[in-house]
Order: sequence, then structure tokens, then C-alpha cells
Amino acid sequence: MKAADRTFFANFLVVLAALVAIAIFVGVAAGLINSAHEDEVGIDPRAAEVIGERIAPVGKVAVGEPPAEEEGAVASAPKEPRSGEEIVNGVCAGCHGAGIAGAPKMGDNAAWAGLWANGIDTTTTNAINGKGGMPPRGGSDATDEELRAAVVYMFKQAGFE
Ligand code: HEC
Repeated sequence: MKAADRTFFANFLVVLAALVAIAIFVGVAAGLINSAHEDEVGIDPRAAEVIGERIAPVGKVAVGEPPAEEEGAVASAPKEPRSGEEIVNGVCAGCHGAGIAGAPKMGDNAAWAGLWANGIDTTTTNAINGKGGMPPRGGSDATDEELRAAVVYMFKQAGFE
């Protein structure tokens, strides 16, 4: 063996010994730290609480009566009446748009002239009560006020106002 080789070998052994010593130290330290917590069974309760929150379901189904304040909120919110145009487009146009089953057709001046002569009140009453092929309220849940607005809107479409 050359002198240089011998020096290298000696240094290498020192480094190797140091690495082994560090490995043993880390192993022993880990064992000590772990043994200090061995009496704790399961996971940390604080951690368990946080984990529970994180994996909780996104929604819950409430069975039974809604809470009182929600009920009150719904009851106290006044329902805005829909406009005549909304009612007509949503309900009445189904028949009156094309003049189905003899319904006075929208925008047909001649079809609405006789009704205009009867007056808005009578015509609205007929629309509320139904007449011939016209179901009461056009089969909708529209209020008297909304129906009147719808009749006024249809009159307007036919050129009467
Ligand atoms: C299912 C079809 C249908 C729907 C929906 C409908 N109507 Fe009619 N409507 C008729 C028919 C058919 C007549 C003609 C009735 C007759 O004179 O025999 C009529 C007649 C009328 C008349 C004339 C009443 C009169 O004095 O002779 C008015 C006003 C009227 N409809 C308003 C409405 C309004 C407002 C709506 C929407 C809320 C509506 N209708 C929805 C079929 C419909």
C-alpha cells in the first residue's frame, strides 16, 4: 500500500465511524422521544377534533319543523305581484298566443273589440271564473290583481288602453 492510500484509508475510516455514530445517536434519540409518548393511546384529542371538522359532511339534512325564525322570515316576506306581461308570457300565451280552442288571440284587434266593449272588470271576472274553454285563472295560481294586469296587458297588445 502506498502512503497516500494509507492516509486515505485512515481518513475514510474516521468518516465512516462518524457516520455510524450519528446513525446510532439518531436511532437512540428517536426511540427516547417515542417512548415519552407511548402512554398516549390513539391520536391527540385536539388533533382528532380538527380532523373531525375537516372530514365532516358538507351538508346536513334537517328533519322536522323548520326553526321558528325561518318560518317567520318566509311569512313576513311580502310576495311581489307579478306583472301582467309576466303572467301572460308565463301562462296565458300558451292558448292566447296562437288563439287555441277559440281563445281571443293576442294582438288580434277584432277578437278583443267585443271584450273591450264589455269592459275590463267584466272581462277580468270572466278570466278569473273561467268561461267555455278558458279554465279559471287560465289554470294558474295568479291572484285577482295579477289576472287583471294580464287582461290589461292583453288588451293593450290588441290596441285597447
Ligand atoms: C287552456 C287555454 C287557455 C289559457 C291557459 C288561458 N286562456 Fe283565456 N281563454 C281561453 C279560451 C278558449 C277562451 C275563450 C272562452 C270562450 O269565450 O268560450 C279564453 C277567453 C279569455 C278571455 C275572454 C273572457 C270573456 O270575457 O269572454 C280573457 C280575458 C282571457 N281568456 C284571459 C286569460 C288570461 C289572463 C290568461 C292567463 C292567466 C288566460 N286567459 C289563459 C283559453 C285559455
